Amino acid sequence: MNVRIQNNFDNVNWNEVANLLKSAGMSYVDAETHKISFLNSASVVFLFDGDILIGIGRAISDMVRHGAIYDVAVNPNYQGNGLGRIIIETIVNSLPKCNFILFASPGKEGFYEQLGFSRLKTGMGYFIDSSGMRMKGFIE
Ligand SMILES: CC(C)(COP(=O)(O)OP(=O)(O)OC[C@H]1O[C@@H](n2cnc3c(N)ncnc32)[C@H](O)[C@@H]1OP(=O)(O)O)[C@@H](O)C(=O)NCCC(=O)NCCS
Repeated sequence: MNVRIQNNFDNVNWNEVANLLKSAGMSYVDAETHKISFLNSASVVFLFDGDILIGIGRAISDMVRHGAIYDVAVNPNYQGNGLGRIIIETIVNSLPKCNFILFASPGKEGFYEQLGFSRLKTGMGYFIDSSGMRMKGFIE
């Protein structure tokens, strides 16, 4: 495995982004919407093994105080090799003045705790599809 970290959009196939999210069991939509989400993010990470997209992540941010991390996923065939850590550390290091929040997928909280994240005591969310988020285990 020869992992390359990329922080721009060169040769990113947005269908592959959607497929990666799907294969990792994450929420995914159409390729164009993922493209807009990443293009409007303050920090983006794409991991490639050769020309295979194997990991992604992004953060939206005001660049000076706050950031929120989304769409962190590693191809299941590549999980457990430190790539998730690379994605998170790359995002955090790219916005050094910022605090970060995120929604851990249910069961993945330990991954973020390993990386120095803490559970939020007063986290609140407003969702267009609140019943869907409740069914997926994200909200009470
Ligand atoms: C969660 C995910 C991004 C982690 O990526 P990964 O490459 O498998 O993780 P890493 O190998 O970088 O693990 C980093 C550390 O976290 C630990 N870890 C990984 N998953 C964990 C979990 N579910 N619970 C506790 N610790 C975990 C690893 O043991 C490792 O610890 P170490 O550095 O002491 O050895 C990846 O498993 C994934 O894409 N899962 C499906 C999608 C998903 O849930 N994304 C997160 C959405 S919030």
